[in-house]
Amino acid sequence: MTESGDRLVNPDRQDEDQTELSLRPQQLRELIGQEKIKENLAILIEAAQHRAEPLDHVLFYGPPGLGKTTLAHILANEMGVNIKVTAGPAIERQGDLAAILSNLREGDVLFVDEIHRLGRAVEEVLYPAMEDFALDIVIGKGPAARSVRLKLPRFTVIGATTRLALVTAPLRARFGAVYRLHFYSQEAMEAIVVRASRQLNVRAEEDGIREIARRARGTPRVALRLLRRVRDFAQVRADGVITSEVADQALNLMDVDPLGLDDMDRRVLRAIIEKYNCGPVGLNTIAASVHEEQDTIQEVVEPYLLQLGFLERTSQGRMATQLACEHLGLPYPDNQPPRLF
Ligand SMILES: Nc1ncnc2c1ncn2[C@@H]1O[C@H](COP(=O)(O)OP(=O)(O)OP(=O)(O)O)[C@@H](O)[C@H]1O
Ligand SMILES: [Mg+2]
Repeated sequence: MTESGDRLVNPDRQDEDQTELSLRPQQLRELIGQEKIKENLAILIEAAQHRAEPLDHVLFYGPPGLGKTTLAHILANEMGVNIKVTAGPAIERQGDLAAILSNLREGDVLFVDEIHRLGRAVEEVLYPAMEDFALDIVIGKGPAARSVRLKLPRFTVIGATTRLALVTAPLRARFGAVYRLHFYSQEAMEAIVVRASRQLNVRAEEDGIREIARRARGTPRVALRLLRRVRDFAQVRADGVITSEVADQALNLMDVDPLGLDDMDRRVLRAIIEKYNCGPVGLNTIAASVHEEQDTIQEVVEPYLLQLGFLERTSQGRMATQLACEHLGLPYPDNQPPRLF
């Protein structure tokens, strides 16, 4: 077990995030930020409703905690259809998927989380289901075996993944619409914290909200978690109101720095800067030197560091930038070789 599970700013879902469900926006217009996706989805929904057809298959990708699952539920809700939720690793055999598919009703949404983790054999069943709404099943064995094609109701697959590159090309090609979720702007993050503090009955001043929003790495899930922790701190150490000082003290105590970086982010950056002279260095080497899983670094740590401009990915490996050195108060090596990209 690595330390990553305990990180306060880890955007992956954790048990304490249960309250997320009640905070989840139900309708497209309640969703804050992601304006472009919202506009596209509104058109998709209206067009489908106009034709009285199910929604096109939709794939969402982007770092954890930005709202992929939320959007899937919103789409089903807006279309007024049922949503069946499953995940790539949960569908082990072709028969599992066949059972799910044959229980769907016309227009239903099948939400497949972590769709990049579907097995190849299972994917083969999904292709004709998505394309022709058909399920091919083999009856019998050996020379007497024959394939029977069952008709399925027209339904919608909504896929979600943090790793688009791991979604196979044929699967990706079967989605009519593919959307990338981006980190949220400061403004959107503030609106999300305001909304959540109203729903949780937390008293917070504008400056306190701004501080939490700024340190939540552009990720709604992290913002909600920081808000709950700062609320606890305010209750115990202050008079229950989240001011900017209360937020600042609470977040410092939790080791979340002014840009939202925590201990793991800093260890990754430090390793690249101090041990490898700012890089380039391979992901596997970084993972080994900070004792973390490569996947965790790639899915959880890197996207935000890239977004901040603290990290660059080159064909020779990862490089820490001058900005990263400045943020950590470390010298930027002046013997950096000229860059080759
Ligand atoms: N645009 C938004 N406005 C308000 N709240 C949001 C928004 N996006 C996400 N949230 C909140 O953040 C929480 C996390 O979002 P969600 O579970 O949809 O993320 P995800 O992208 O599916 O993450 P993962 O990759 O880990 O599955 C939601 O429960 C919701 O309360
Ligand atoms: Mg999700």
